[in-house]
Amino acid sequence: MSILVTGIGELTTNDGDPRADAAVVIDGDRIAWVGQAAAAPDTDERVDVEGRAVLPGWVDSHTHLVFAGDRTAEFRARMAGEPYTAGGIAVTVGATRAATDDELAAGLRRHIDEAVAQGTTYIETKTGYGLTVEDELRSARIAAEHADEVTFLGAHLVPPGADPQSYVDLVTGPMLDAVAPYVRWADVFCETGAFDEAQSRAVLKAAAAKGLGLRVHGNQLGPGPGVRLAVELGAASVDHCTYLTPSDVDALASSDTVATLLPACDLSTRQPLPDARALLDAGATIALASNCNPGSSYTSSMAYCVTTAVLQMRLSVAEAVRAATWGGAQALRRDDIGVIRVGARADLHVLNAPSATHLAYRPGVPLTWAVWRAGDRTRA
Ligand code: NIG
Repeated sequence: MSILVTGIGELTTNDGDPRADAAVVIDGDRIAWVGQAAAAPDTDERVDVEGRAVLPGWVDSHTHLVFAGDRTAEFRARMAGEPYTAGGIAVTVGATRAATDDELAAGLRRHIDEAVAQGTTYIETKTGYGLTVEDELRSARIAAEHADEVTFLGAHLVPPGADPQSYVDLVTGPMLDAVAPYVRWADVFCETGAFDEAQSRAVLKAAAAKGLGLRVHGNQLGPGPGVRLAVELGAASVDHCTYLTPSDVDALASSDTVATLLPACDLSTRQPLPDARALLDAGATIALASNCNPGSSYTSSMAYCVTTAVLQMRLSVAEAVRAATWGGAQALRRDDIGVIRVGARADLHVLNAPSATHLAYRPGVPLTWAVWRAGDRTRA
């Protein structure tokens, strides 16, 4: 089945400048043609979007969606002045271990559906609220059934009461062996209160030896070794990057490690926003992601992240949209998503607005009008 999407007011492709009078042809799950509407080929169907803006679907490259429970009380305490600490993760670990497989799968599905309804067409998610071999394995298995990409985050927190070195041995041994068939990536929370540099290095090296790609949670709550380690070990991304030194910025700029920025998390944890401008100006690749999780960032809205990046992080709309689409794709080492070009996955996001500028010009307004995800229209 081929579909001509026409009447596009502004087309953002990430493959050249935004185009006017453009049309796109979807064939099955792929983009089959992009060009001037007047030259469009015949198709089985035609959808006139009546002057609306079309962009690639959001690529949300950082979420933690296999969880149960709720941390409203912790959020309230934070808004009253309590600091965010890694320790809150243990609350979700308790609730997640107590949940059934069906409850975890239903929660994951509900959050993915919520994201897709807002224009997200490709989504990564992580384990990390199980922290036993059995619980991490079932998180990985459930995640692999529903999410596009899965990351093993057994090194999210040393479970309360556990010996840190014994836990690292478990993560790098039996736990890694158990989850490996279900995951493409491994990650570590390299932060005070979580895993130090030596422990993080051990986790990442074991995962690399197992053939997994690497990601790092780094420099979230203060300056630290996360960025340096991620670059040294060739990680695909280092996520958070809230506290960067000039040498961290230089290291990222001279590497192909993507700096994934999570502004909704920084706002929700009352941290400063990362210096996206310095990263881009230095030549680093940045991604924007939601970090949807019940503790530090309970939003699935990529539009909110884009809006924040424009209004408060000094990115242009084009830079922010690119970071939330193509940047996310780069963080996942993919070049067939986050872009509208022939052969790419047919992931389109139609805004109920004439241009992507409205994402920042009309903050907080739900602007998603239609979504095609791998060629399937999921909303109108
Ligand atoms: O990316 N930083 C570590 N992990 C999550 C938070 C998880 C939680 O607080 O439950 C994050 O912010």
